[in-house]
Amino acid sequence: MNVARIIDSVLEAPVIPSFTKIGYNARRRLEGWTELDDYDLHGKVVLLTGATSGLGKAAAHQLARCGATLVLVGRNADRNQQVCDEMINATNNGAISQVAADMGDYRQVDHLAEEVLDRHDRLDVLVHNAGALSPKRQLAPDGTEATVASQVVGPFLLTTRLLDRLAQSAPSRVITMSSGGMYTAGLTVSKLQMDPSSYGGSEQYARAKRAQVALNEMWAARYGHLGISFHSMHPGWADTPGVDASLPTFAKVVGPLLRSADQGADTLVWLAADEEPLRTNGKFWLDRRERSTHKIPTTKKTDTPARRVELWDWVAETAGAAPPAV
Ligand SMILES: NC(=O)c1ccc[n+]([C@@H]2O[C@H](COP(=O)([O-])OP(=O)(O)OC[C@H]3O[C@@H](n4cnc5c(N)ncnc54)[C@H](OP(=O)(O)O)[C@@H]3O)[C@@H](O)[C@H]2O)c1
Repeated sequence: MNVARIIDSVLEAPVIPSFTKIGYNARRRLEGWTELDDYDLHGKVVLLTGATSGLGKAAAHQLARCGATLVLVGRNADRNQQVCDEMINATNNGAISQVAADMGDYRQVDHLAEEVLDRHDRLDVLVHNAGALSPKRQLAPDGTEATVASQVVGPFLLTTRLLDRLAQSAPSRVITMSSGGMYTAGLTVSKLQMDPSSYGGSEQYARAKRAQVALNEMWAARYGHLGISFHSMHPGWADTPGVDASLPTFAKVVGPLLRSADQGADTLVWLAADEEPLRTNGKFWLDRRERSTHKIPTTKKTDTPARRVELWDWVAETAGAAPPAV
């Protein structure tokens, strides 16, 4: 084991150094990371949800600097367009467009997929980054709890609709932005959507983020042979408008140690650009390295093959679509 790996393991065990900028800075320095500007993504088409703020905006900016053709997604067309214009001006990359879609509204997700299929004859990278922790329980148009609809069902539907195009563009990638918060949650289907009497934003968020990670592994196992690499990741703790809005006390307490949005987005861009993620499939990453998906035995016990199948089937039924069985 080399020194960088030993130090990485020491950092990984306790959450605070690992998730904050302490972990990012140490790993970056010790492991000699490739500079993101060194990746050339000209000719690659990247679809990125949640691109108007925080981590998604930082990642989009970097991907644009690397020359990628980008389709940016947020819920509001004017806001999306403003971000596109800013990015085109800042990077001189004119190949940036946008589609407005709420990922929890399945008709809008269908429309998003149709737009992308119409506009681009290839799709190299699909990034499911859109997400929020909602302190108040809300429902999506179909009645599904909104966190689950927008971060579990909507992304599943989008991947399903774009699967053929991703396969035609192989080697291609699907990247899901989960959260370290998922370490606290077990895998559940019957309680994936919290009911009004027990609802807590952080717990609901953690359950949805756990489901994302389980589904990512299932996509890889079922469809990896198409030449598509499916990876999920967590960004550590980064200073973004989303964190400020949903966890203001946390943001204040951890404040000086929070990563910048660029630091939180680093692994996302790396997963989209580097060759290494194409050599594996269905992994979970932080700071450019595979991580375990469970830290405590109680959550691991819940993550059974039978429950995963139940999750997949429920999500497909709720989405009203599933990829062909293989
Ligand atoms: N920051 C962190 O420390 C941290 C830690 C762990 C995980 N994450 C994850 O990282 C991702 C980005 O978070 P962030 O901190 O960058 O948050 P943010 O600053 O609030 O950005 C969230 C982005 O998601 C979009 N979005 C939210 N709900 C959406 C929906 N229903 N449909 C379509 N777009 C939607 C927002 O766009 P519009 O508002 O323009 O629609 C915005 O672009 C999320 O998945 C989050 O769970 C962040």
